[in-house]
Amino acid sequence: MKKQLAAFLIIPLVFALFAGCNGASGGTVTPSPTEMPSAVEMPSFTETSSPTETSVSSESEAVLQSADILVVFFSHSGNTRTLAQYVHDIVGGDMFEIVAVEPYPENMNECVARATAELADNARPSLASSVEDMGKYAAVYIGYPIWCGNEPMVIRSFLEAYDFTGKTIYPFCTSGSSTNDLAVKSIRSICPAANVADGLTVTRTQLPKTQEMAAAWLDGLKSP
Ligand SMILES: Cc1cc2nc3c(=O)[nH]c(=O)nc-3n(C[C@H](O)[C@H](O)[C@H](O)COP(=O)(O)O)c2cc1C
Repeated sequence: MKKQLAAFLIIPLVFALFAGCNGASGGTVTPSPTEMPSAVEMPSFTETSSPTETSVSSESEAVLQSADILVVFFSHSGNTRTLAQYVHDIVGGDMFEIVAVEPYPENMNECVARATAELADNARPSLASSVEDMGKYAAVYIGYPIWCGNEPMVIRSFLEAYDFTGKTIYPFCTSGSSTNDLAVKSIRSICPAANVADGLTVTRTQLPKTQEMAAAWLDGLKSP
């Protein structure tokens, strides 16, 4: 009885949380209880380099060396960090965490409010650090949570900070239930001179399969 009462109270609350996102431009949001982020404990890092050489095969049989690969991610509650770590385990290369100068609130309501305002304002939040030599990377794997149906605006700040001409961008995301479609479209429009591969989405119910999904996505990637 207590459980039923709790569900009764919590479900409308979650719907109300993402209602703000619905009003923002550029994204269709399907609010559901599965959209609540969950914390995943992972070690924190900003930039690391993998000494092992790995290769990524594309349709054109091009082989990338580890030195050509950058795995970038932004994560608020840890899910995308976990996914990025699995991607990095497979493709190798360097790793870089996108961090906003002004940290996003841990409180869910406050974070949704800020994300909603940033999307509505088409904001470009300042980034706390930068990639040392983006020029040396041929492939950039970029991961983010879906916020308000889109990629968080810090991802746009990041994409606009570098020249991606001729590079291949591989977008991956985690979400409550939304797809990566709007984010991938946005990345293609911000980086028109890059090849942007079809993205991966891992939704909340799929989180236990994050590792397998990362491996299957990387396995199935074709040159865009
Ligand atoms: C501000 C905010 C907005 C969100 N908007 C959406 C959304 O529009 N659609 C969705 O499916 N999930 C949404 N979510 C849920 C996150 O995408 C999901 O929990 C994701 O796995 C969090 O990744 P992270 O742990 O790497 O931060 C939102 C979460 C937050 C904090």
